[in-house]
Amino acid sequence: MTDIDLVGEAIAAREGAYAPYSRFAVGAALLDSTGKVWHGCNIENAAYTPGNCAERTAFFKAVSEGVFSFEAIAVVGGPVGEPIGDWCAPCGVCRQVMREFCDPRRFRVVLANSPTVTRGFLLEDLLPMSFGPEDLSSPAQSAEAGA
Ligand code: THU
Repeated sequence: MTDIDLVGEAIAAREGAYAPYSRFAVGAALLDSTGKVWHGCNIENAAYTPGNCAERTAFFKAVSEGVFSFEAIAVVGGPVGEPIGDWCAPCGVCRQVMREFCDPRRFRVVLANSPTVTRGFLLEDLLPMSFGPEDLSSPAQSAEAGA
């Protein structure tokens, strides 16, 4: 799967966005280690804070079905009803959720400002000096948990 293919999946995922408040539609396509792509979109709420970003929707769909190994995510966004025309970088909360399930030295975040113009980043460059699961678990605890 090329970066442009994954961006195409994110553009398709964006069609599902529910963004009546911000009018900003975001799509994400999360590539797992088996080659399966998980779509996510932003889902807003009248109470505002319960809203979910596209990236986390994609991760939570995959993790809720037992998938824990990922290669890359493509993210695109822009005003509802318009084609993408600018970069849409993941928010800090979504970067931290990626950090929970991905090796920041390997996991790639692919952005696009058109269907064919992409930029790829390593998660460690978007979230330097990060805090992750291994910072909490002692070697003994990890062994017990089978990690
Ligand atoms: N949003 C995402 O879904 N992902 C991002 O990377 C940036 C922001 C959503 C949240 C909210 O529904 C809307 O875009 C405006 O912030």
